[in-house]
This record gives sequence, C-alpha cells and structure tokens, in this order.
Amino acid sequence: MIEVGQSVEVSVTSAANGGHCVGRADSGQVVFVRHALPGERVTARITAVGKGGRFLNADAVQVLQPSAHRVAPACPWAGRCGGCDFQHADDEVQRHMAVDVVADLLRRLGGVSSIHGAALEVALAWVPLEHGPAGGGSRSRVRYVVGADGVLSMRAHHSHELVPVGVCPLGMPVAAQAAAAHEGTPGTEVEFVVDDDGEVVTVVDGIGDDLVTRRVDGRVWRLQPTGFWQVHPHAAETLSHLVCDAVAAQPGERVLDLYAGAGLFSASVAEQVGENGRVEAVESSQESVNDGATALADLTQVTFHHADTRRWLRERRGEAADVVIVDPPRAGVGAEAIADILRMGPRVLAYVSCDPATFARDARAAAEQGYHLTAVTLVDMFPMTGHIEVLGVFRPGAHDCPGGCD
Ligand SMILES: C[S@@+](CC[C@H](N)C(=O)[O-])C[C@H]1O[C@@H](n2cnc3c(N)ncnc32)[C@H](O)[C@@H]1O
Repeated sequence: MIEVGQSVEVSVTSAANGGHCVGRADSGQVVFVRHALPGERVTARITAVGKGGRFLNADAVQVLQPSAHRVAPACPWAGRCGGCDFQHADDEVQRHMAVDVVADLLRRLGGVSSIHGAALEVALAWVPLEHGPAGGGSRSRVRYVVGADGVLSMRAHHSHELVPVGVCPLGMPVAAQAAAAHEGTPGTEVEFVVDDDGEVVTVVDGIGDDLVTRRVDGRVWRLQPTGFWQVHPHAAETLSHLVCDAVAAQPGERVLDLYAGAGLFSASVAEQVGENGRVEAVESSQESVNDGATALADLTQVTFHHADTRRWLRERRGEAADVVIVDPPRAGVGAEAIADILRMGPRVLAYVSCDPATFARDARAAAEQGYHLTAVTLVDMFPMTGHIEVLGVFRPGAHDCPGGCD
C-alpha cells in the first residue's frame, strides 16, 4: 500500500483543473502531480492518497524527461509558495493547458462536444492580457501574512505553513515597493491594492486606509478596497468589452446583471439599452451596491438590488428579460437559478466564470432549458496559476447552429 512521503515515477499525460497535471504511475495508478508538465516523466513524492487508493496527489521532485516548454522559474519561491502553480511553464503551454482543461470539463461535465461544429480545442478563443516576464505586474492586489520575524509571507499550497517570500513578483511594481517598505505586526494579514491612478491602498486585517479609484471607459468608481474588483490591471476593461460585444444589448431592452459587484458590466450595457431600457444589477455585498449605485448614479436606467441572486430570481418567476449577464463566484450559478434565468426567455446569456468546472456543470443545466454555447473565450487573467477565467455565450436553440447563428 503506497503511502504519503513515498516516491513514484509518473508519465504525465495532460493538464487537470486546479493547477496540476495528471498522469499514471508505473503501477497504473492515476496521479495528480504538481510542478510537472504534459509529456514529462517525473519522480513525484506522494502528498495525499485518495479514498480507497483510487488516485494519488503528488509533487514532482525530479524531472526525468523534461517538456520543451519547461523554463527555469523566475521566482525563487516557486514550488514552495502556494500562490503560483506554473512558474516552471512557458506562456504557450500555459495557454494550451488552460484550453485543454476547459475543453475536457465541457465534454465531461457539460456534455458539450463541439461549438459551431468545431472541436472544442479549436473553438475556444484565447484573449491574452499584457504582463511582464513570469507573470510580473499581473496583479493589482497582493495579500501577505506577516511572519513571526516580520517578513511578508504567503501560504504554501493547501497549508497554513508560511513561506517568507518578502515580495511577490506578480504584483504591480508599486505594490512591490509598498510591500518592501512595509513593517507589519507578526500574524497580521496585509494586502496592497493598486488603484487605477497608481495609488497603493494598504488593507490590514480587512481594514483599508483609503478608497480605491477605478476607471473604465471614462467612468470612475470610488470603492472600498475590500470590495470586489477584477485583479488583473487590464481585466475589468477587457471583460466589460467582451461582454458588451457578446450581448449587443439593444435600445429599450431589459438586462439583468447578476452577481454585479459595483456594476462594471451594468455601466456599459446601460449605454447600449439607453434611457428607455432597464438594467437591474443584483449583488449580495452592501458595500459594492453602495459604491456601484454612487458611481452609476447618472444612469437612471440602472437599478441596484442588494439581494441573493437565487432568491431574487425565485421572486421574479414569470417575468421576462432580453439579456442576462452572470459573473458568479466559484460555486457557479446552480441548476435551479439557471432554469429560472432561462425561463425568462433571454435572447442571450453571457456567463463570466472563474471556475470552469461549475461553468461546465451550468452549461449542462442550460442545455436542459434549450440554450447552447455559441462561443467560449478564455481570458489570460491569472498567469502562472491554475485559475482560468471564461466567458461563455449561450443562445436558445443554437446547438451547433444547424440553422445558422452569429
Ligand atoms: C466575480 S465577482 C463579479 C463582480 C462584477 N461582475 C465585476 O466584474 O466587477 C462576483 C460578485 O458576486 C457577489 N456575490 C456572491 N454571491 C452572491 C449571491 N449569492 N448573490 C448575489 N451576489 C453574490 C460577490 O459579492 C461579487 O461581487
């Protein structure tokens, strides 16, 4: 019986969801292995044994046959810090792994085999976002724990162990400067949030020292630093444009922006529907509702609802909507709420997801209501990590578009 701490040789076949790869040990056992790449043969140390020994979790400790896409990690803490999964992988293989993971989940959990008749690996679009080497500057907020010796630290993967990184290279340069200058109390959590004016707001144990300014397409938000905003400095604008292009809301239409945050998408679709249209932003955080309602006060067609999305939808059964946008947390929307949304008869549902597994599960629920994926775009918002951001566009009766669709 194999045990934690033992080593096995693994032939790594593909990427798996969650920042690791999957392969087989010589015994035939399935192994989820971190810090490896598809096509490699590695020696891996077992970190966990799955129920009944059906699979193993492991960490590559020696690369026997390296991938051509393996690179020397730029961060000295790669492999120990839990923040990054793929410091050892070049950009190209990170893109391929993300596409393969989403395609696999859509097939297995979503029951989706093709889009417009094209195989998923071909149909999935990829939008790169600018970042420096090894993901540098891709994060406008970086959170640390102050270690016992005062050194800024991050947690090891799935562990409370602190790794004394000092400064995380993924943060924007001003966040790195603020981190280098910070003298914190051991045990406190500190987060450096860079706003769109380049100011750094420091949040200690959840309390910020100022508001942050966000700007998209000329609109200005003043937000609590603890409220949700897209982390990559180019993500908010990119996602907002992608969503607006996908839904192309028409003057006078009713749009629901569910899990709306401070109304990033509401602001831009409001311009599309005009003064005679209606945009309803539903958000569970009072802080985000307050900040969003203030930022969008001039858009009289937008109404913010401080509510749980699922309950809000249940209370509106029988109503109609033309366009629905959802951007849920990792748990996804869920089959009941997907059914409630699609029974409103929208001509398009734009689904922004930070978890392709729940996205795929919700795609299956959408298909049961007669809505199918007509486009899926991956946005490179989290380089060096296993996190994957997806925009899926669902339309009624458009499965493989036999009648033609855009
Ligand atoms: C991924 S963020 C998206 C926010 C916004 N679309 C944006 O891009 O800035 C998800 C948002 O959903 C909110 N949320 C989480 N659970 C919710 C629920 N059950 N009902 C409504 N909003 C919820 C969170 O507070 C967060 O603001």
